[in-house]
Amino acid sequence: MSDPRPIGIFDSGLGGLTVLKEIRHILPQEQIIYFGDTARVPYGPKSRETVLKFSIENILFLLKHKVKLIVVACNTSSSVALNRVENSFRVPIIGVIKPGAEQALNLTRNGRIGIIGTRTTIRSRAYEKQIKQKKQNMKIYSVACPLFVPLVEEGWTGNRITREIARMYLAPFKKYRIDTLVLGCTHYPLLKNAIKEVLGTRVRLVDSAKQVAKQVSCILKDKQMLALGNRTKRPKIHFFVSDEPASFAKLGKKFLGIPLKNVKVVPNV
Ligand code: DGL
Repeated sequence: MSDPRPIGIFDSGLGGLTVLKEIRHILPQEQIIYFGDTARVPYGPKSRETVLKFSIENILFLLKHKVKLIVVACNTSSSVALNRVENSFRVPIIGVIKPGAEQALNLTRNGRIGIIGTRTTIRSRAYEKQIKQKKQNMKIYSVACPLFVPLVEEGWTGNRITREIARMYLAPFKKYRIDTLVLGCTHYPLLKNAIKEVLGTRVRLVDSAKQVAKQVSCILKDKQMLALGNRTKRPKIHFFVSDEPASFAKLGKKFLGIPLKNVKVVPNV
């Protein structure tokens, strides 16, 4: 049985493209609809209620496009909205926190894990709860890095200023002696080099995108919802944003490594 309906992915902006890339890599025959809420980015400094409201609107938008599964490719939404929405719609909805937490547990050797994310993600303690639920004795150290998202959205991923800001945010992790750092925001994989420069290669970085993609693949297999199309002909990715399609397309190329064609604007999701 083949299910040709698309997979829906959303984020506040460009960050979720890091997740899209991995899903596309392991499920090349799937159609994908991506929504970046560029009119309302960033979600990170906003309240739980606002992020929940935006997340529900984004889900309803994707459902209009008859998606078969939704990936909340945003840590901020996943940390404050996922538990409120995951069982309320007729399709599976998965977030990025659980896969990232599991990967951190697999990687750490000394049980000292750092988490970085937006203010709302860090305040929610979603990673900490998820990790401690599995292993109570882990030591968790969390730091909000609110300037990282605008730097990435600006395309400033490796310049002097970005490296200096990374140095300031990440300095506490040196004294905490962490061996694993969760990149708790889908924008942060683009700052990997700047982060590695500060923390060194001994600290392993957790980017949950690959794990999320594996989870999507397992769910679709389990539910017999995979698209079993012609493997040589890749279906198109449909990109929607709530504002500024041109700058999304320009920067999106940096995330995906391929040009983003046909980015459409939907001002009222
Ligand atoms: N990329 C998002 C995240 O994973 C949100 C960033 C933002 O909008 O502040 O948290």
